[in-house]
Amino acid sequence: MDVLKALQTRKSIRGYKPDPVPKEIIAKVLEVATRAPSALNTQPWQITVISGKVLDEIRQENIKALNVGTGSAQEIIRKPFEGIYRKRQVDLAIQIFQLMGIARDDKEKRAQWMMRGFRYFDAPAAIVLSLDKSMDSTLALCDIGVLCQSICLAALEFGLGTCIEDQGILFPDILRKLAGIPEFNLPIMGLAIGYPDWDFPANKLVTPREALNNNTKWYGFE
Ligand SMILES: Cc1cc2nc3c(=O)[nH]c(=O)nc-3n(C[C@H](O)[C@H](O)[C@H](O)COP(=O)(O)O)c2cc1C
Repeated sequence: MDVLKALQTRKSIRGYKPDPVPKEIIAKVLEVATRAPSALNTQPWQITVISGKVLDEIRQENIKALNVGTGSAQEIIRKPFEGIYRKRQVDLAIQIFQLMGIARDDKEKRAQWMMRGFRYFDAPAAIVLSLDKSMDSTLALCDIGVLCQSICLAALEFGLGTCIEDQGILFPDILRKLAGIPEFNLPIMGLAIGYPDWDFPANKLVTPREALNNNTKWYGFE
Protein backbone atom coordinates (compact mmCIF):
# COMPACT_ATOMS: atom_id res chain seq x y z
CA MET A 1 0.00 0.00 0.00
CA ASP A 2 1.16 3.46 -0.89
CA VAL A 3 2.28 5.50 2.14
CA LEU A 4 -0.20 8.34 1.63
CA LYS A 5 -3.06 5.90 1.23
CA ALA A 6 -1.98 4.08 4.40
CA LEU A 7 -1.87 7.33 6.35
CA GLN A 8 -5.28 8.31 5.02
CA THR A 9 -7.00 4.97 5.60
CA ARG A 10 -5.57 3.98 9.01
CA LYS A 11 -8.15 4.35 11.71
CA SER A 12 -8.70 2.96 15.18
CA ILE A 13 -10.39 -0.45 15.03
CA ARG A 14 -12.47 -1.32 18.08
CA GLY A 15 -14.21 -4.48 16.83
CA TYR A 16 -12.33 -7.55 15.53
CA LYS A 17 -13.04 -10.89 13.93
CA PRO A 18 -12.09 -13.75 16.24
CA ASP A 19 -9.63 -15.17 13.67
CA PRO A 20 -6.18 -15.53 15.21
CA VAL A 21 -3.29 -13.60 13.68
CA PRO A 22 -0.37 -15.92 12.90
CA LYS A 23 2.78 -15.17 14.89
CA GLU A 24 4.79 -14.91 11.62
CA ILE A 25 2.53 -12.12 10.36
CA ILE A 26 2.89 -10.09 13.54
CA ALA A 27 6.64 -10.72 13.41
CA LYS A 28 6.73 -9.32 9.84
CA VAL A 29 4.77 -6.25 10.94
CA LEU A 30 7.19 -5.68 13.81
CA GLU A 31 10.29 -6.26 11.71
CA VAL A 32 9.24 -3.50 9.33
CA ALA A 33 7.79 -1.23 12.02
CA THR A 34 10.97 -1.32 14.10
CA ARG A 35 12.70 0.43 11.19
CA ALA A 36 11.09 3.41 12.94
CA PRO A 37 13.53 6.17 13.83
CA SER A 38 14.47 6.76 17.45
CA ALA A 39 16.52 9.40 19.19
CA LEU A 40 20.22 8.58 18.63
CA ASN A 41 19.03 5.17 17.38
CA THR A 42 18.55 4.12 20.99
CA GLN A 43 15.53 1.92 20.05
CA PRO A 44 14.38 2.12 23.67
CA TRP A 45 11.32 -0.07 23.20
CA GLN A 46 10.68 -3.51 24.67
CA ILE A 47 7.91 -5.26 22.75
CA THR A 48 5.58 -7.86 24.25
CA VAL A 49 3.16 -9.64 21.93
CA ILE A 50 0.29 -11.38 23.67
CA SER A 51 -2.41 -13.71 22.41
CA GLY A 52 -4.46 -16.77 23.35
CA LYS A 53 -4.93 -17.82 26.97
CA VAL A 54 -2.53 -15.22 28.36
CA LEU A 55 -4.41 -12.38 26.68
CA ASP A 56 -7.71 -13.76 27.96
CA GLU A 57 -6.31 -13.82 31.50
CA ILE A 58 -5.09 -10.23 31.15
CA ARG A 59 -8.54 -9.15 29.96
CA GLN A 60 -10.19 -10.83 32.96
CA GLU A 61 -7.71 -9.40 35.47
CA ASN A 62 -8.00 -5.91 33.95
CA ILE A 63 -11.78 -6.00 34.33
CA LYS A 64 -11.50 -7.26 37.91
CA ALA A 65 -9.05 -4.47 38.74
CA LEU A 66 -11.27 -1.90 37.04
CA ASN A 67 -14.30 -3.03 39.03
CA VAL A 68 -12.41 -2.98 42.31
CA GLY A 69 -11.18 0.50 41.36
CA THR A 70 -7.70 0.21 42.80
CA GLY A 71 -4.25 -0.76 41.68
CA SER A 72 -4.03 1.40 38.56
CA ALA A 73 -0.68 2.71 37.53
CA GLN A 74 0.58 5.45 39.77
CA GLU A 75 3.66 5.29 37.55
CA ILE A 76 1.75 6.62 34.56
CA ILE A 77 1.15 10.34 34.30
CA ARG A 78 -2.39 11.19 33.20
CA LYS A 79 -3.87 14.64 33.55
CA PRO A 80 -7.52 15.46 32.82
CA PHE A 81 -7.93 17.29 29.52
CA GLU A 82 -9.13 20.89 29.45
CA GLY A 83 -10.58 23.37 26.94
CA ILE A 84 -10.48 22.37 23.28
CA TYR A 85 -8.79 19.06 24.18
CA ARG A 86 -11.62 18.11 26.53
CA LYS A 87 -14.11 19.14 23.83
CA ARG A 88 -12.45 16.86 21.29
CA GLN A 89 -12.45 14.03 23.83
CA VAL A 90 -16.17 14.50 24.48
CA ASP A 91 -16.92 14.79 20.74
CA LEU A 92 -15.16 11.46 20.16
CA ALA A 93 -17.25 9.78 22.86
CA ILE A 94 -20.45 11.24 21.37
CA GLN A 95 -19.51 9.96 17.90
CA ILE A 96 -18.69 6.46 19.16
CA PHE A 97 -21.78 6.22 21.39
CA GLN A 98 -24.01 7.35 18.52
CA LEU A 99 -22.63 4.65 16.24
CA MET A 100 -22.92 2.04 19.00
CA GLY A 101 -26.47 3.13 19.91
CA ILE A 102 -25.46 3.97 23.48
CA ALA A 103 -27.65 6.66 25.03
CA ARG A 104 -25.89 9.50 26.87
CA ASP A 105 -27.51 8.58 30.21
CA ASP A 106 -27.07 4.81 29.85
CA LYS A 107 -24.40 4.41 32.49
CA GLU A 108 -24.42 0.62 32.28
CA LYS A 109 -23.72 0.49 28.53
CA ARG A 110 -21.13 3.26 28.80
CA ALA A 111 -19.33 1.29 31.49
CA GLN A 112 -19.47 -1.81 29.29
CA TRP A 113 -17.98 0.16 26.43
CA MET A 114 -15.15 1.36 28.64
CA MET A 115 -14.45 -2.22 29.65
CA ARG A 116 -13.97 -3.19 25.98
CA GLY A 117 -10.87 -0.99 25.94
CA PHE A 118 -9.50 -2.74 29.01
CA ARG A 119 -10.18 -6.03 27.18
CA TYR A 120 -8.14 -4.87 24.15
CA PHE A 121 -11.44 -4.69 22.27
CA ASP A 122 -11.51 -8.51 22.30
CA ALA A 123 -8.83 -8.50 19.60
CA PRO A 124 -7.05 -11.80 18.99
CA ALA A 125 -3.70 -10.22 19.86
CA ALA A 126 -2.21 -7.29 21.72
CA ILE A 127 1.14 -5.57 21.63
CA VAL A 128 2.55 -3.80 24.66
CA LEU A 129 5.37 -1.30 24.21
CA SER A 130 7.47 -0.75 27.31
CA LEU A 131 10.46 1.35 28.24
CA ASP A 132 13.32 0.47 30.48
CA LYS A 133 12.65 2.87 33.38
CA SER A 134 16.14 4.34 32.95
CA MET A 135 14.99 5.53 29.49
CA ASP A 136 11.84 7.26 30.73
CA SER A 137 12.27 10.64 29.00
CA THR A 138 10.35 12.77 26.53
CA LEU A 139 12.68 11.55 23.78
CA ALA A 140 11.91 7.92 24.52
CA LEU A 141 8.16 8.60 24.76
CA CYS A 142 8.39 10.18 21.32
CA ASP A 143 10.21 7.06 20.07
CA ILE A 144 7.37 4.87 21.37
CA GLY A 145 4.85 7.10 19.56
CA VAL A 146 6.73 6.81 16.29
CA LEU A 147 6.82 3.02 16.69
CA CYS A 148 3.08 2.90 17.46
CA GLN A 149 2.19 4.60 14.20
CA SER A 150 4.71 2.47 12.28
CA ILE A 151 3.04 -0.69 13.62
CA CYS A 152 -0.41 0.61 12.65
CA LEU A 153 0.72 1.42 9.10
CA ALA A 154 2.67 -1.81 8.56
CA ALA A 155 -0.32 -3.80 9.85
CA LEU A 156 -2.51 -2.42 7.04
CA GLU A 157 -0.38 -4.17 4.44
CA PHE A 158 -1.46 -7.51 5.98
CA GLY A 159 -5.15 -6.60 6.19
CA LEU A 160 -4.83 -6.01 9.92
CA GLY A 161 -6.48 -3.29 11.96
CA THR A 162 -5.12 -1.76 15.14
CA CYS A 163 -6.10 0.50 17.98
CA ILE A 164 -3.41 2.27 19.95
CA GLU A 165 -4.75 2.26 23.48
CA ASP A 166 -3.49 3.28 26.87
CA GLN A 167 -6.47 1.57 28.53
CA GLY A 168 -4.67 -1.72 27.94
CA ILE A 169 -1.65 -0.78 30.05
CA LEU A 170 -3.28 1.04 32.93
CA PHE A 171 -2.75 -1.95 35.20
CA PRO A 172 0.94 -2.59 34.55
CA ASP A 173 1.31 -5.04 37.42
CA ILE A 174 -1.16 -7.37 35.69
CA LEU A 175 1.02 -7.27 32.57
CA ARG A 176 4.09 -7.83 34.71
CA LYS A 177 2.51 -10.84 36.40
CA LEU A 178 0.96 -12.50 33.33
CA ALA A 179 3.16 -11.38 30.43
CA GLY A 180 6.55 -11.42 32.13
CA ILE A 181 7.24 -7.70 31.83
CA PRO A 182 10.03 -7.06 34.32
CA GLU A 183 9.72 -4.58 37.19
CA PHE A 184 12.33 -2.29 35.59
CA ASN A 185 10.20 -1.92 32.44
CA LEU A 186 7.34 0.54 32.29
CA PRO A 187 4.51 -0.32 29.87
CA ILE A 188 3.89 2.93 27.95
CA MET A 189 1.32 1.98 25.33
CA GLY A 190 -0.77 -0.95 24.19
CA LEU A 191 -2.15 -1.83 20.77
CA ALA A 192 -5.00 -4.14 19.90
CA ILE A 193 -4.32 -5.91 16.61
CA GLY A 194 -6.39 -8.24 14.47
CA TYR A 195 -8.62 -8.56 11.41
CA PRO A 196 -11.25 -5.78 11.48
CA ASP A 197 -14.91 -6.68 11.77
CA TRP A 198 -16.23 -4.10 9.30
CA ASP A 199 -19.80 -4.72 10.47
CA PHE A 200 -18.91 -3.48 13.95
CA PRO A 201 -20.55 -0.03 14.13
CA ALA A 202 -17.69 1.87 15.82
CA ASN A 203 -15.35 0.81 13.00
CA LYS A 204 -17.34 3.05 10.65
CA LEU A 205 -16.10 6.14 12.48
CA VAL A 206 -13.87 8.52 10.56
CA THR A 207 -12.67 11.04 13.12
CA PRO A 208 -12.36 14.69 12.10
CA ARG A 209 -9.13 16.71 12.11
CA GLU A 210 -8.59 20.38 12.75
CA ALA A 211 -7.97 22.35 9.56
CA LEU A 212 -4.24 22.75 8.99
CA ASN A 213 -4.62 26.55 9.00
CA ASN A 214 -5.69 26.42 12.65
CA ASN A 215 -2.62 24.68 14.00
CA THR A 216 0.14 25.42 11.51
CA LYS A 217 2.12 28.60 10.96
CA TRP A 218 4.27 29.20 7.93
CA TYR A 219 7.24 31.56 7.73
CA GLY A 220 9.49 32.48 4.86
CA PHE A 221 7.32 31.09 2.09
CA GLU A 222 6.06 34.45 0.83
C1 LIG B 1 -1.59 7.65 22.65
C2 LIG B 1 -2.96 7.15 22.27
C3 LIG B 1 -3.76 6.57 23.22
C4 LIG B 1 -5.03 6.09 22.87
N1 LIG B 1 -5.78 5.43 23.81
C5 LIG B 1 -7.00 4.94 23.46
C6 LIG B 1 -7.76 4.21 24.39
O1 LIG B 1 -7.34 3.97 25.53
N2 LIG B 1 -8.99 3.77 24.01
C7 LIG B 1 -9.48 4.00 22.76
O2 LIG B 1 -10.61 3.56 22.46
N3 LIG B 1 -8.76 4.67 21.83
C8 LIG B 1 -7.53 5.15 22.15
N4 LIG B 1 -6.77 5.81 21.22
C9 LIG B 1 -7.29 6.01 19.85
C10 LIG B 1 -7.74 7.46 19.65
O3 LIG B 1 -8.97 7.67 20.29
C11 LIG B 1 -7.84 7.71 18.14
O4 LIG B 1 -6.56 7.61 17.57
C12 LIG B 1 -8.40 9.09 17.82
O5 LIG B 1 -9.72 9.20 18.27
C13 LIG B 1 -8.35 9.38 16.32
O6 LIG B 1 -9.10 8.40 15.63
P1 LIG B 1 -8.45 7.44 14.53
O7 LIG B 1 -7.34 6.67 15.19
O8 LIG B 1 -9.57 6.54 14.10
O9 LIG B 1 -7.93 8.29 13.43
C14 LIG B 1 -5.51 6.25 21.55
C15 LIG B 1 -4.67 6.85 20.58
C16 LIG B 1 -3.41 7.28 20.93
C17 LIG B 1 -2.52 7.88 19.87
